[in-house]
Order: sequence, then structure tokens, then C-alpha cells
Amino acid sequence: MDVFVIEGNYPLKGEVYVSGAKNAALPLMCAALLSKEPVKLENVPKLTDIDVLLKVFTTLGITYDWQKEEGSLLLNAANITSFTAPYELVSKMRASILVLGPLLARFGKGVVSLPGGCAIGSRPVDILIDGLEKLGVTIELKEGYIHATAPNGLIGADIHLRKPAVTGTENLMMAATYAQGKTTLYNAAKEPEITDLARMLQKMGVRIEGVGTSTLTIYGQNTQQKTLAGCTHTVMPDRIEAGTFMIAAALKGEGVTIYNAREEDNTALLAYLKQSGVAVEISEKEEVVYIPPAVEGTALDVTTEPFPGFPTDLQAQMMLYLTQCAGKSTITENIYENRFMHVLELNRMAANLTIDGQTVHINGKVSLKGAPVMATDLRASACLVLAALCADGQTVIRRIYHLDRGYDHLEEKLTKLGAHVRRMDEKTFEKEAATQQSIA
Ligand code: EPU
Repeated sequence: MDVFVIEGNYPLKGEVYVSGAKNAALPLMCAALLSKEPVKLENVPKLTDIDVLLKVFTTLGITYDWQKEEGSLLLNAANITSFTAPYELVSKMRASILVLGPLLARFGKGVVSLPGGCAIGSRPVDILIDGLEKLGVTIELKEGYIHATAPNGLIGADIHLRKPAVTGTENLMMAATYAQGKTTLYNAAKEPEITDLARMLQKMGVRIEGVGTSTLTIYGQNTQQKTLAGCTHTVMPDRIEAGTFMIAAALKGEGVTIYNAREEDNTALLAYLKQSGVAVEISEKEEVVYIPPAVEGTALDVTTEPFPGFPTDLQAQMMLYLTQCAGKSTITENIYENRFMHVLELNRMAANLTIDGQTVHINGKVSLKGAPVMATDLRASACLVLAALCADGQTVIRRIYHLDRGYDHLEEKLTKLGAHVRRMDEKTFEKEAATQQSIA
């Protein structure tokens, strides 16, 4: 297992390029299952979550080929040989469940392991199951697996989602592409990744209305023909990675230019940063955000919400930012019930945070101290990296495999900006640390 060894308090300066979005790439890859023709995706990030989905694909009989151009992935789902996404893979990555909608659409059957709980909350899939049943799918839960069947195809329906579930909306959109007649999803999620998926489905020949809104209407194909076309599609930039760099620049920047950062995807974060006193220069056309040299920010009260509200996936990073702002701030987490695992780790680095139900009270500004810490989930890991960049001394972050799930070459990008981040094998690090101790 690798660790990050970070020496804190170096300024960040220069340019950084945001990679393709994990949470867009995963559903877009699954959309390739809807066609017998090859699908080419460009700007696919190099992440372990992408590798897990490719393993699921191999189990199903889908072939793939990384092309010469960086991030270009060719997928071919012409010959599906299995309809089961196994526990070993779904338990590694919940988003594997995204294969269910396309399998049902094209073949009228699919078996996917129930994802179960995860580090950030219980995360049920009832919204997806309800929606699929409305589309005429029979669902049976057996031995930890969802067995879904619709031997005569799916039937378009009006579906009211209890909550705007993100992958739930994506799965239902894909399931509806081959249904008889039209499907309308009410209270659908409207995250930019859903818009990206809708754009790709449109390229494949699906008629979709209401793109970017919470009411999506999908017109199903003729179930007899099953002919969605292959296509080429470029994965949108990762708004959470972009947001993480914006926060890093606001904390430690001496002028940082972030490329592939779309303003419209991060309006809530940008508004909070501006409210806190951060100057932001945006070039909308070029998708570039420039954050001038950092100034001390003021306290904020932040609430996570579905898009276009402030994203839960930036909550941990924002919490770290607020530890560096003078005054009392709060963050209220409205999406997950257990996404404060980073709080205790940050307190070990001398932050002053207290949890009160779904709210964390932040007393700033504190001088953070380097410490050995443990990453608990993907976004908590990013927050620990930001903390380490601001702390005095050395921070060692263990379990950074969480980070590798969703940040493409983070240490290289930070190093280019001037940070001192080393990725080391944990055993080598322990040995090196022991030698240094014995010398001392
Ligand atoms: N929920 C239900 N029932 C459902 C589905 C969701 O109660 O059937 C609840 C969940 O328990 C949770 C909330 O709704 O409290 C949000 O869940 P949602 O289904 O919207 O999340 P998701 O689709 O599982 C995606 C992202 C997450 C991101 C959330 C919220 C992907 C692959 N994952 O998850 O990303 O936090 O939306 O924006 O798109 C991450 O990248 O670190 C990450 C966790």
C-alpha cells in the first residue's frame, strides 16, 4: 500500500489541468452497453474506479482497448456473455450498479450484487428499484443480489423519484432508452454528469427532453429493433477535482490557473469563495479559473445540497478551507448521514472542529500541525492532502488508495504547482523513518 508524505507550507503557483470526471466517465462507459456498435470515449481519467468498472465489463463479455491518444477508450459490447455484476467488484465500487439499467434495456435481464453500506453512509438503492418496477421490471432480492427481469421488454412510465438520486437517475435514463413509449422522470437529479450522459445518449440516437432540468423525458426505441448507434464522446471535466484545486489555490496559492474548470459546474463553490473574500477571475469561454495570490478568508456557513447547490463531494475540502478562515464557520451535510470521518483526523492536526448532528462547527483560524493520518474515503483523503499542504512539518497520509479512486495523478499535479508530495510504498517509508530515528 502507498502513502503520501507531504511537507507542508510550500506555496502553489502555476497552471494545472483538470482531468475527465470520474462520475461522468462511469455512467458514460455503461451507456456503451446500449449499443452493439463500438463506442469511443475520450478524456477518460486514469483511476482505480475506472479499472474496477472495466473488470465488471470483462466479466460481462465487453471488450475494451485503451487507444494511443491519452485517455481514449474503445468499448465494444457486441457480444455480452454474462448478465451478472459480482459482489467482489460491486463491493469495491458501488457505481458498478450502473450496468443494470443498460443490461435490462438491451436484454431484459440483469443481476447485480446489492452494494450494501459504505464508509459515508447507508446509501440504499430503493429509488432505483422503485423506478425499475414502474418500468415493468420484476425485481427479486436473492442472496445479496438484485435479480431484475423484464422478458417482454420495459414499458415507459411516469416516475417520481423520492429524492434526486444521481446514479439512480442515470440508471433509469439508460433503462428507459429501449422501453416501449416514453418515460418521464420527475424530481430527477440534474448534476452536470447527468447532462453529459444525456448528450451521449442523444448522440446514440435517443430522444431526450428536459436535459439539465429535474424533469427528463426519454423516448424509448422500438423494442424489436434494439439499435442504438455507437458514438464518440468526450468526458466532461471533473468539477470536484477542479473545485479541490480552487480551494488549494485559495489556501496556498501565489497565482494558480486551473484549466478545464467550468464555471457553471462550480457556481456554488465559487460563490462561497467570493463571499469569503477570495478573488476569482473566470474566462468562461476557455473554461479557465484563475485564483490570484491567497488572502486570509472570512468564516462561512456552508450547506451541501443537490446540484446546483454546494456538492457533498467538496464538503471535506471546504471544511479544511474554513479551518484557515478567521471566525466561526459551520458546515451542514444534507446528502449523507455519516460523512464526517475526516473531522477526527483534522483535529489530530490541531483543527478545532466539533460535530453536532449533521453540522460541524469550525473555529478558525488554526495553525495546522503535520501528523500521521488515515484516509477514510475519497473526498476525506483530498481534505487531508489540503490540510497537509497548509500544516507545519510533515504529514503522512495512509490508505491513499481511496484517493486513487478519484484523483488522476494528484501528486504529480500538486508537485508541478510547487507542493512537496511524495508517494511511497508504506514499507519503504517505515524503513526510512526507522533509519532516520536511529540516526537521530
Ligand atoms: N439515496 C436513497 N435511496 C436511493 C438512492 C440514494 O436513499 O435509492 C440517498 C443516499 O442514501 C444518499 C443520497 O440519497 O444519502 C445521495 O445518493 P445518490 O444516489 O444521489 O448518490 P450516488 O448516485 O450513489 C453519486 C456520486 C457520489 C456523490 C453523490 C451525491 C457517482 C458514481 N457517485 O452517488 O460521488 O457523492 O452522487 O452527489 O456519481 C464521490 O465521487 O466521492 C461520490 C461519493
